[in-house]
Amino acid sequence: MKHLLSIDDLSVDAIAEIFETAADMHDVQRREVKKLPALRGRTVINMFFEDSTRTRSSFEIAGKWLSADVINISAKGSSASKGESLRDTVLTVCAMGVDGLVIRHPASGAAHQVSQWVDAVVVNAGDGMHEHPTQALLDAYTLQRRMGSLEGRHVVLVGDLTHSRVFRSNVLCLTKLGARVTVVAPPTLMPSGIAAWSASAGFETSYDLDAVLPEADAVMMLRVQRERMSGGYFPSAREYTVGYGLTRDRLATLKPDAPICHPGPMNRGLEIAADAADAAQSVVLEQVSSGLAVRMSVLYHLLAGEES
Ligand code: NCD
Repeated sequence: MKHLLSIDDLSVDAIAEIFETAADMHDVQRREVKKLPALRGRTVINMFFEDSTRTRSSFEIAGKWLSADVINISAKGSSASKGESLRDTVLTVCAMGVDGLVIRHPASGAAHQVSQWVDAVVVNAGDGMHEHPTQALLDAYTLQRRMGSLEGRHVVLVGDLTHSRVFRSNVLCLTKLGARVTVVAPPTLMPSGIAAWSASAGFETSYDLDAVLPEADAVMMLRVQRERMSGGYFPSAREYTVGYGLTRDRLATLKPDAPICHPGPMNRGLEIAADAADAAQSVVLEQVSSGLAVRMSVLYHLLAGEES
């Protein structure tokens, strides 16, 4: 594997290998001196053309703990805001001899396109409404640490599926790992074409959260992505919460040991109530620390041993 653009790039064995290395990296996080020499002499650029807190900082820390030189570029503050094209920006950066390019971009397919322009290793850190493979890897890794094998376990994804790259990557990853997956959304936020995809990929869809939730072995709440919405997808925030929020009442119907995931950032009070976000079964912060270990593992597998 040269790049990580989609979960489709990974076999089940490759995912297992990433998780195995991530477990070792997790141990590094607990050390007083959190530094491995694995990527010494390598340069990684994080190019973020969209806002990010955890993905960007965890890629930065992951690269630094592996001793790579890490540089961050964001759209604001770079020549992209002066009208430079994406191609010119990445070619400019790569002319400086960069080994790895971690890219987040609002256009679906951007990471794939960039990988065709450059020699550097490209990691997709979220491309529009398409994919966010390291998020799905860290979600599955977190769930496996809590639940053991995901084979046959019922994972329920709820929320704004239409605009969610996390949902797309997670469906690919979870079904690959043998989980039973049900996705729940109001009809307006159910992506078009999902009937054909769910039939071929073997996952279920539902509009009825209350019917599905009590059967879930794990639940993943997804953010309502207002910045990607041009029209009214639901009548009011209150109505969304009543139909599809993980409220205090719904929390009571969830199995007490079923992990609650959310990739963040959370809209507390909209898709997830504070009671659920802060519940003992919430793994939201565990996802963040696992995310660091998984990203260290991904950078290690893609960049260690490469010719510099
Ligand atoms: C997600 C993203 O950016 O796709 N966040 C993240 O990476 N932690 C989900 C979101 O923005 O809702």
